[in-house]
Amino acid sequence: MNYCVLVNRDNKIKDNYLDKVKLINTKNIDDEEIKVEENTYKAYLELKEFLESINITIGLNEGYREVSYQEELFNRFTIDKGIEYTITHVAEPRFSEHHTALALDISILIDKEYTDEDHFEVFEEIHKHLHKFGFILRYPKGKEIITKYSYEPWHIRYVGKIPAKIIYENNLTLEEYLTSFGGVLYINKPKNITSFDVVNKISHILGIKKVGHTGTLDPMATGVMLVAFGKATKIVELLTFNDKEYIAGVELGYKTDTYDNTGKVINRCEIRNDINIKETLNSYKKTYLQEVPIYSAVKVNGKKLYEYAREEKSIELPKKEVTIKEIELLEEDNNTFKFKALVSKGTYIRSLINDIGISLNTYATMTSLERIKQGNITIDETNTLEDIENNNFIIHKIEEVLPYKEIIVDDDLEKKISNGVKLDNIYEIEDKVIFKNKDNKLLGIYEKQEDSLVVWKNFI
Ligand code: DAL
Ligand code: ZN
Repeated sequence: MNYCVLVNRDNKIKDNYLDKVKLINTKNIDDEEIKVEENTYKAYLELKEFLESINITIGLNEGYREVSYQEELFNRFTIDKGIEYTITHVAEPRFSEHHTALALDISILIDKEYTDEDHFEVFEEIHKHLHKFGFILRYPKGKEIITKYSYEPWHIRYVGKIPAKIIYENNLTLEEYLTSFGGVLYINKPKNITSFDVVNKISHILGIKKVGHTGTLDPMATGVMLVAFGKATKIVELLTFNDKEYIAGVELGYKTDTYDNTGKVINRCEIRNDINIKETLNSYKKTYLQEVPIYSAVKVNGKKLYEYAREEKSIELPKKEVTIKEIELLEEDNNTFKFKALVSKGTYIRSLINDIGISLNTYATMTSLERIKQGNITIDETNTLEDIENNNFIIHKIEEVLPYKEIIVDDDLEKKISNGVKLDNIYEIEDKVIFKNKDNKLLGIYEKQEDSLVVWKNFI
C-alpha cells in the first residue's frame, strides 16, 4: 500500500481506493465508533504511548470519513461560516484526506478535558515527535499557500516513517515532498538483483514514483550506484559522464557467451604457465577501441545486441573508444586473479577481461565485479538497501552531486531565472552553472551558449 497517496484540493480520492485498505474499528474520545487504517492505528498507539511518557495525553477525534459525511460537514460549515471560511478549513467531499483513513484528528487532555483548541505549545511539542512514528503535520503554519488549508495543529497524517522523517527534516508539506523535492542517494547495490529492482525498491520505500539511476550494474555486480528521485531525476544524465573504478575477479581457461560466469561456457583452453598477468594488465593502461559485448543493451539498427544473440543472428559488434586510466593487479592464485581499474565512461569490464584473456593466449571470464567509485563518489560513502529500510541514510542535494560553480542571486535575477530568461555570461562560465536564491534554494542550471547563459534545467 502507498502511504504517500496525495488527496488534497486538487486530487480526489480514487473510487476503488478502499479495496486495498484494512480498516480497524475503534472508539473516539466521545465513545463513538470510528475507523482507521491498520498501520496508521498501530502507529497512533505508539505515538500515544510515547507522548504519555512526556506527560501529554492525546485522544482520537476522527479518522476515516465517508464521502457523505464530508458532504454534510462541508454544507454545515458553509451555512454556519460562509463559503470563504469553509474552503480553507473543510475539504469538499471526495477531496478530504480523511477518506484515506490515514488522517487523524487528535485532541489533547487538558485539565481532565479533551480539546483541540488553543494550547498551541502542547501541540507544537507533539509535532516535534510525529515523524518518529510515521506521521506528519499535514497543514502546517506558513505553508497555507501550498496546502490550501489553514493551520490545523490537530490534523496528523500517516505516511510511514521514512517519508515522515524526510518531510520533517526538510520542512516540507506532502505536496512539496511529492512534487518539488528531490535528491540523490549513493547506493551500494547488492548482488543478484537488477539495477531496476534497486530503483523499484527505493521508489516503494520513499513513496515517490519518479526514481532513476545512472550506470546500470548487471545483477552479478555490486557497488556504487547513484539513484536520483523526484526533481533530481532531471539531472540523471549528468551523473553518468564520470570515470568509474572497479575491482573485478577473473578466472582463466574458459570463455562464456556473456564474458562473465553467469553465461554459458562456449570454449575452454589450457593456461600456459609462462603468462605474466601483471605485465599484461599494465599493457592495457591505454585508450583503445573496445568491442561492445553482444550481451548488452546497446542498439544496432534499432535492435538491442542481446536480442540478436538470443535469436542467434550474426551482427557486427560496434567498437567504442575507451580509456583504462589505471589498472593494478591485486591478487593472483593459479588460474584466478583480481584487479582494480579506473576506466572511462562506457568501458565494459567483462570485455576488458575478455581482451586481457586473448592477450594471455587463453580465455578469461569475469567472476565478480564491484564498482568502488563513480566520479568522486566512493563505496565508503554509499548506503545499503538495509540502511534505506532502517531509515539511516543520506540524501544528497542535486547541487552537491554536480561539479559546477554555484551562484547565489538577488530577487531580480531570481525572477529572470525562474522564467528561464537568457543571461549575459558575466561569470565567465565555461560549461554549466548552478543558480540558487538567497534562501539557498536551487533555481536552475544554466549552460554557456556562445556569449550567453541559457537555461538547461529549471527547478522551479
Ligand atoms: N479539515 C480538512 C482539510 C478536511 O476537511 O479534510
Ligand atoms: Zn482532519
